[in-house]
Amino acid sequence: MNAPQVFPHEVRVEPDFQSSTHALLALREHLVIDHPINDRVSASQRNLFELFELYAHFVYDFNAYVGALFSRITDIDAKAHIYENLLEEIGFQPGKQAQWGFHHGELYRSFLVSLRQTSAYRGVISEDRTRELDMLSRGISERFYAGHFDILRKGNDRLTVAAFSSIEGWVSREYAMWRKLLGQLGDDALAIDLRTIDLHCECDIEHSRVLDSILRGFLAGDDRTLAAHEVNSGLLRGIALSVGLFDDIDRALATTH
Ligand SMILES: [Fe+2]
Repeated sequence: MNAPQVFPHEVRVEPDFQSSTHALLALREHLVIDHPINDRVSASQRNLFELFELYAHFVYDFNAYVGALFSRITDIDAKAHIYENLLEEIGFQPGKQAQWGFHHGELYRSFLVSLRQTSAYRGVISEDRTRELDMLSRGISERFYAGHFDILRKGNDRLTVAAFSSIEGWVSREYAMWRKLLGQLGDDALAIDLRTIDLHCECDIEHSRVLDSILRGFLAGDDRTLAAHEVNSGLLRGIALSVGLFDDIDRALATTH
């Protein structure tokens, strides 16, 4: 009997990745996109708003992680890509003067501030609960990045870039889902600063494509068996951390289960 097809049609198939890496690239996306939290936030506006609060410190702390990743990497192509990513994260936009307000953490903060002012948000979340969610969000982010910094300390280029790519693999689709749900808020949606949402629906598709081509380069060298082992190990550890991030957020929701 043929083995079951593990690659849904919407997952990009890279013909020169070996099957084990292929399977992990598909999992990288689907274990987050199919996470049960997505049903819970689709069914409840309160859960959706709480997810945005709980996700916040992951965004605020991302820039520090990308900076540490940049300084650790030695592969020139990977370094160049991570540098571009770092510039975007701190607010450089092509053709525009850099501004701290364009920093991705600040764009997200602006989104949250505008969301908190909507009647939809104020109707279901108290100011006390917002403060509580902010504290919970700090802990969630710390646990997530502790895992990635551990990989950075022990890892090499193949391991660390593969682990990093596990994040870029789901961001654009997750943000697209959130964009759709926010559109259902009616007039309230018009008052929300959606720049961070719109930005990440688009740019991270390209990031993911470039990272995959860097991973493919790692796997094309002379020591392919070792390279595949390291890339796959990095993907596996990164995937587990991304799933853990959403497990953590899911557990902290007030109205879950
Ligand atoms: Fe970003």
